[in-house]
Amino acid sequence: MNYTDERMIEWLSVTRREFHMHPELSHEERETSERIKGILRSLDVEVHDLQGLTGVVGLIRGKGRGETIALRADIDALPIQELNEVVYKSQSDGVMHACGHDVHTTIMLGVAKYLQESGTSGKLKGNIKLLFQPAEEKGTGAREMIARGVLENPKVHKVFACHVSPDLPVGTVGVNRTQSHASADWFTLCIKGKGAHGARPSEGIDPIVAGAYFITAVQSIISRNIPPTETAVITVGRFAAGSAPNVIPEKARLEGTIRAFLGDIRNQVIDRLREIINGIEGSFGVSCSFDFHEGMPACINDERVSSFLYDIAAYVLGSEKVSYIPPVTGSEDFALFAIERPSAIIRLGCGNIEKGLDHPLHSPYFDVDEEVLSIGVRVFVEAIRRALT
Ligand code: NI
Repeated sequence: MNYTDERMIEWLSVTRREFHMHPELSHEERETSERIKGILRSLDVEVHDLQGLTGVVGLIRGKGRGETIALRADIDALPIQELNEVVYKSQSDGVMHACGHDVHTTIMLGVAKYLQESGTSGKLKGNIKLLFQPAEEKGTGAREMIARGVLENPKVHKVFACHVSPDLPVGTVGVNRTQSHASADWFTLCIKGKGAHGARPSEGIDPIVAGAYFITAVQSIISRNIPPTETAVITVGRFAAGSAPNVIPEKARLEGTIRAFLGDIRNQVIDRLREIINGIEGSFGVSCSFDFHEGMPACINDERVSSFLYDIAAYVLGSEKVSYIPPVTGSEDFALFAIERPSAIIRLGCGNIEKGLDHPLHSPYFDVDEEVLSIGVRVFVEAIRRALT
């Protein structure tokens, strides 16, 4: 079987649609894991469970000695109601593969299928580890997998991954030379004032006014403290306070997220947030508690690995189809694999405006041009072949 022949293309589509129709949320990917195991076993790939965790590890042992390359695919879906009217529409109410993880999973299974059925695995010097990772959307799966030793025994030398990108036309590949994603942290600010009648504000301390000042003041961190050549994001996505139009409440609660590309910038943002909160306490007489939750570090590709994958993609698709692209301010828990081992995650174009396939990730209308499946398989098969022969 060839990865460009009809049967392979058909198999990839059927497999992807099966995952798409049965999406499961983070940490609930039981049926998905069973389906992956079934396919791996049918391909004669060694299957390993992750004690107490959904997700699967597949291992293909090469004949000769060499490196072990891991291919990582995330497998979870999102709490979104699919609005596409397609035959393979999600059959789970309120759950949808709106981030293309069904595609990533299918591509890595397709790589295994090709390597096994073409007899390529038997000629490899080294091993391939297939990491089917749960709970990427919650940002916890990579950490939990690594804690269970998936990068050891046999020791993984490099990790490759992909993410579909509807911004890029199908047939093209985008590579981040180093940075691919920002860090993501979370915070909660509780402001305690003093409740009063809405008609007599001077008898209370208004936490809503203090919270509104906080939101306004933090805008100056990006515009006036961060160097204009750097990037950071502060978003307050939740502001909860009050219960009636004529009552000044006791408390307000604000929740937000911070994104940054550089550790120094991230720290500067956090320091300035704390200073602004101190200032608000002083000027409004409220008392504040600030809870900072460290989320995901920035995702940094290893330059040797990213340029290797760039060259492979250019070889497979033609150099005009591959480009270096800027990072995004989203986060990706592949960052944790990239901290542990030289790694790279590449973007596979899956958009096709003519077919109406240009809805963004996490949209209820998100869908891919399925040509991306065989393209992903070709790129990663070639990468494995080049790395392990
Ligand atoms: Ni995703």
